[in-house]
This record gives sequence, structure tokens and C-alpha cells, in this order.
Amino acid sequence: MSALSRFTKRIVWGLFILCSFQTIAADNLLKINTDRAKFNYQMLCQGCHTPDGTGGKSVPKIKDFIGYFLQKEIAREYLVKVPGSANSSLNDAQLAEVLNWMIIEFGGESVPKNMQYFTTNEVATLREQPLFEVVEYRKMLIKQLTLSNRTVDETSDQK
Ligand code: HEC
Repeated sequence: MSALSRFTKRIVWGLFILCSFQTIAADNLLKINTDRAKFNYQMLCQGCHTPDGTGGKSVPKIKDFIGYFLQKEIAREYLVKVPGSANSSLNDAQLAEVLNWMIIEFGGESVPKNMQYFTTNEVATLREQPLFEVVEYRKMLIKQLTLSNRTVDETSDQK
């Protein structure tokens, strides 16, 4: 192989690797259209989850809590598989956006510093397996998470 073609080959590989990194980066990039996310939340989620994420009697508090689910893969997946998310009329990109927005908007200190944003592809795969028996499953998940002491006190008397 001539020096030139080896050189060309390296360039091609270099570009290829660069491009694949960029695609991954672009997919993970925070592309939240806040107005659209908020609008979708207001139209489809807020009725139960309330405007500030406090929730209600049978609707869990998302405010200062939702971010805890990002600690474990199985709990992260729950946020997409829960019926309110998985069965919503939002498309995969919109659902990923609303979930990311809800976490940032309401999560407060529960959100991990290195939060990994939901991507369209991830959401598309996960929502194909929606959950049915949610209440017990949720309790089981929460036992596996590390909550701040204050939050444990607050949640202990919830359902
Ligand atoms: C009819 C009421 C209702 C609507 C509308 C609703 N949810 Fe929910 N959501 C719930 C309830 C109740 C739970 C607790 C789990 C369960 O029992 O399904 C929940 C749980 C969740 C959770 C997990 C949080 C936790 O702490 O368990 C997420 C994420 C979520 N919903 C997202 C959404 C999104 C996104 C929308 C709008 C597209 C939405 N929900 C619309 C009632 C609702």
C-alpha cells in the first residue's frame, strides 16, 4: 500500500470516527424547546401532575423527587414505561423532551449532577414495554434509591 493511500485511509477513518462521535453527541445534546415542552405538559400531564409538579392524592410528587429515578437504570426506564408517559399521545421525540423538561423544571436537588438526557431512540424502545402493575413496582424501585432524609420523611406517609 502506498504512503498516500495509507494517509487517505487514516483521514477517512478519522472523519468517520469524528462523525460518529458527533452523532452521539448531537443525540445527547440538550435540545429542549421549553415552550413546546411546557405546552405539551400543560395539555397532557398537568391535569394530574399539577402545574408545579406537586401532584395530588394518588398522583406522586414529581417536584424535588423525579430526579432520584435517574440513579438506577431500571428506575430511569420506569419514567418512560409508566402509563402516563408510555401511553401518551406524544411522539417519541416530544415525550423525551417533556420528560427532560419535567426533570429540569421540577426535579430540583433530586437531579444528579451528571444527568443523562432521554433521547428519542431510548424513549422509542422503552415505551414499547409499558408497565401495568405500577403502584407496587414504584415502591420497590424507591426502596433501591438514595433519597435525602427530608424526602424520606415526606414520602413515608404518601400512598
Ligand atoms: C390521569 C392522570 C395522569 C396523567 C394525565 C398523567 N399522569 Fe403521569 N402519573 C400518574 C400517576 C397516578 C402516576 C403514578 C404511577 C401510576 O400509578 O401510574 C404517574 C407517574 C408518572 C411518572 C413517574 C413519576 C413517579 O414518581 O412515579 C412520570 C415520569 C409521569 N407520570 C409522566 C407523565 C407524563 C409525561 C404525562 C403527560 C404526557 C403524564 N404523566 C400524564 C397520573 C397521570
